[in-house]
Amino acid sequence: MSSGFERKPVEPDNATIEDLMSVAPCTLRCEDGVVSVGGVPLADIIEEYGTALFIYDEEHLRRQLRTYKEEFASRYPESSIIYAAKSFCCVAMDRIVDEEGCCIDIASGGELAFARAAEFPSEKLFIQGNNKTPEEIEEAIAARAAYFVVDTLDELDRISEAAERRGIRQRVILRICPGIEADTHAYIQTANEDSKFGFNIGNGSARIATEHALGCKGIDLCGYHFHIGSQIFALDCFSHATQIAFDFMDEMRRDFDFTARDLDIGGGLGIAYLKGDHPASIAEFAEVTTTAVKTEAEKHGYPLPHLYTEPGRSISANAALTAYTVGAVKKVTGVGTYVSVDGGMSDNIRTALYQADYEAFVLEHAEEPRSMVCDIVGKHCEAGDVVVFNRSLQPCKAGEHVCVLATGAYCHEQANNYNKQVRPGVVMVADGSVREVVRRETYEDLLSRELG
Ligand code: LLP
Repeated sequence: MSSGFERKPVEPDNATIEDLMSVAPCTLRCEDGVVSVGGVPLADIIEEYGTALFIYDEEHLRRQLRTYKEEFASRYPESSIIYAAKSFCCVAMDRIVDEEGCCIDIASGGELAFARAAEFPSEKLFIQGNNKTPEEIEEAIAARAAYFVVDTLDELDRISEAAERRGIRQRVILRICPGIEADTHAYIQTANEDSKFGFNIGNGSARIATEHALGCKGIDLCGYHFHIGSQIFALDCFSHATQIAFDFMDEMRRDFDFTARDLDIGGGLGIAYLKGDHPASIAEFAEVTTTAVKTEAEKHGYPLPHLYTEPGRSISANAALTAYTVGAVKKVTGVGTYVSVDGGMSDNIRTALYQADYEAFVLEHAEEPRSMVCDIVGKHCEAGDVVVFNRSLQPCKAGEHVCVLATGAYCHEQANNYNKQVRPGVVMVADGSVREVVRRETYEDLLSRELG
């Protein structure tokens, strides 16, 4: 296929919606052929808000945040959860994160603007990103953000100067790069030796950064951060990174008399996109990571730091589905079947970018077996505009609705206006009611930036 996807013959899996529950929002039900989320039939939501549409299960989002908090706190009381806003950011989500008692990881001035619009408490803001602009630094300091996670010496100086001008010392955590390859797609590995992220431990940069930060008048150095990648299934990568971090922290204590008060082990826990996927649970992740921290601390006689973790995908991905309307079904003899929907790489670029895989079902035939193999394709002018490649689906026709599961993370966030497509709206469903939290874009929105 010219899109870069490699087509292999597959048999239909004959799965029904009941077989897809492990990747679905926690309140998704199918009773007498009626599929609902949060007690509201999807057909009713679609009728009111149209397609393409992101439908989030609010209970699922809250449940994930609470599970993280409980699983960590029960094993390691001095711990906090920082939600990675980049996986799904809107004002309503930022409010939920605050209500559930979690902190937030902000990766840009834009995400900061959203947090501020949600009146997110400044003492729970963690400012991240490998190239914060001087304006973003000023805005975040002015907003009294709790911590900056810092990636470069240039930035340390900029933050220090900006803090000094305001007569404060800014709390800073240094992002260190342990130099390991996480078990995931190369595009989302972030702690290799060859990475733009963090200060490399192996080549001495992290040591230089520590010494530098300790000498900056405007900086209160609090500890270290690593984030090894995303969609990780093998938890031993986290133990390995923790071990490298503690060896390094011990060295810094010996050489500079600096003891880290805070340790942030990043995010990255994988989720189930396909019914056969078996990611580690949040409890298992908490067990492995807190055990690694406690073991390493004991080994080095190091006081236990406050522990942070930064999940994004494992909070938001399975909380949502994308609903589309089928525009056409085309059978190409000797090749396959294309089901064209009213969205595509503008609302889900993950398939084109990472060869991501998803489960989908046809709303009107959810209880029937998925007896055909097809590509669910979008409406954009590219062969690579595929949402689901070469997978099973119930036979369907124009006017029916396809729901793609586990699209809650990095889909709405990475949405774009290719072909001047308007981005979908977002609704949240809870306890039998639906609220629109992001409205669908309009042509007026698109034209509002045009000056020509
Ligand atoms: N902390 C930092 C510093 C990060 O860079 C990330 C994600 C996270 C936490 C959250 O990681 P998570 O728990 O979501 O795995 N667009 C890609 C994913 C990029 C991840 C970027 N950083 C995708 O669609 O798969």
